[in-house]
Amino acid sequence: MENSMTTAMALLVVLLAAGVGLSEGAVYKVGDSIGWTIMGSPNYTAWTVSKNFQVGDTIVFEYNKNFHNVLEVSKADYSACNAASPIATYTSGNDSITLKSKGHRFFICGFTGHCSGGQKVDVRLAKSSSSAASSPSPAPSPSTSGASGSNPSPAASPPAANSGTSALPSGVALLLVMLSFTAISAGLVRLY
Ligand SMILES: *[C@@H]1O[C@H](CO)[C@@H](O)[C@H](O)[C@H]1NC(C)=O
Ligand SMILES: *[C@@H]1O[C@H](CO)[C@@H](O)[C@H](O)[C@H]1NC(C)=O
Repeated sequence: MENSMTTAMALLVVLLAAGVGLSEGAVYKVGDSIGWTIMGSPNYTAWTVSKNFQVGDTIVFEYNKNFHNVLEVSKADYSACNAASPIATYTSGNDSITLKSKGHRFFICGFTGHCSGGQKVDVRLAKSSSSAASSPSPAPSPSTSGASGSNPSPAASPPAANSGTSALPSGVALLLVMLSFTAISAGLVRLY
């Protein structure tokens, strides 16, 4: 009985470790040491070409929130530098955005003239990405005040397990409950 219990516990530990492994991703600071700015006419296209973004990676925008913000926009709005209809708005000055799906993600600064001056980035995720299941990314609520330093997109949210593995943890839990019950029963039998 104890051996079965130990085996079940070991299996659970392995599954938990695998889950932790799934949630790990690279973290890229946009612009590297320059950050998210208009100073010095940074070329964010040049920044992206050296990266190999994958689903599960996180990009971090660091900037002075008095002078900049981050708007996720459509491709058309990226090209036109249109800040009027963002998909999501970030204003904390230290915004982590987890990349949850393949394809392009377009970000611009919403301050007048900044996007056209080069403060825009097209983050492209490789098509040959891993099998991580994509979950719908929650749209952060737009904040116009910028007063809160809160992070609208928690970087630590683990990717959704795919359907093949999602049944396993509950199965193991059930197994553990059954084993515990059996152990208790055995103890009771020994008691009387
Ligand atoms: C920015 O960098 C990209 C890639 O290196 C290059 O193709 C492009 O011409 C650059 N743009 C400017 C304005 O220098
Ligand atoms: C941004 O947040 C990260 C952790 O979330 C922290 O390590 C980093 O120091 C912060 N940067 C600034 C400029 O506050």
